Amino acid sequence: MQFQWYPGHMAKARKAMQDDIKLIDVIVELVDARVPYSSKNPDIDTLANGKARVLLMNKYDLADTSITDEWVKYYEDKGYFVTKVNSKNGKGIKEVNSVIQKACAKKIERDRRRGIINRPLRAMAAGIPNVGKSTFINSFAGKACTKTGNKPGVTKGKQWIRLNKNVELLDTPGILWPKFEDQQTGLNLAFTGAIKDELYNIYELSRFLIGFLNENYPDAISSCYNTEASGTGNETEILKDIAECRGCIKSGAEPDLDKAAKLLIDDFRAGKLGRITLEKPLTDI
Ligand code: G4P
Repeated sequence: MQFQWYPGHMAKARKAMQDDIKLIDVIVELVDARVPYSSKNPDIDTLANGKARVLLMNKYDLADTSITDEWVKYYEDKGYFVTKVNSKNGKGIKEVNSVIQKACAKKIERDRRRGIINRPLRAMAAGIPNVGKSTFINSFAGKACTKTGNKPGVTKGKQWIRLNKNVELLDTPGILWPKFEDQQTGLNLAFTGAIKDELYNIYELSRFLIGFLNENYPDAISSCYNTEASGTGNETEILKDIAECRGCIKSGAEPDLDKAAKLLIDDFRAGKLGRITLEKPLTDI
């Protein structure tokens, strides 16, 4: 399956990130806990250029708990300050503040020695599309925050959300581009909705998802749909069963496989097939 590539958009996004990174102390990078590697853009390492790094395993409510813990350890071993969050319901959000303080401990100490105390840390959220940046900013900022206006030395028009006396967050997130380095990464991003549905064939995509589930979560499909075919591993038969179970029928009483494919992908994205992680940490990543 082919995925497209948008250099124009990427160049613009990269420039915007480069400008914003100059203003901040710490990058709060979001990845999708179901695909922590595929949803992480390695270019941020070059862009971050020595800034403190916090990594949020967002949407962990949709991911396999034990594999998420493996990923947390994997990235902690790489020097990140990592925490799990569900930006949608706010679970884990409170911890982000203390993780930011830990990530910036050296800077806070340097400032203290130079007599600078109580200067808020400046943070920005960043991540690829649909990873949950806006939801995170809203959840993290909550109701109690105050927006600060333009400040001397800060690019005109930038808005900072003062979260408490210790942290200010840039109100616009850094947008990173998804990577398309191999077919599996592209598939993982398509499964989770990080790349637009128009860019691939949803029927083909659903067949790949069925293949993955059959191998790794063999009960996921049968526990969600009434399908006898799930044990056979035959993607077409499974889609036919899903179509029948959910009433996706075309005129002439034919099962509508495209509709069933879309339904399966939507159910996966919404967590209806259970907590599923699509990739595990490997030592060579
Ligand atoms: P972005 O700014 O990075 O592009 O992402 P955005 O916040 O718009 O979030 C994309 C989708 O992911 C939204 O769903 C949002 O609700 C969902 N989301 C964000 N964080 C979490 C999380 O931790 N857990 C879960 N389960 N979902 C999360 P949507 O379907 O586009 O909108 P909505 O119907 O939920 O409002």
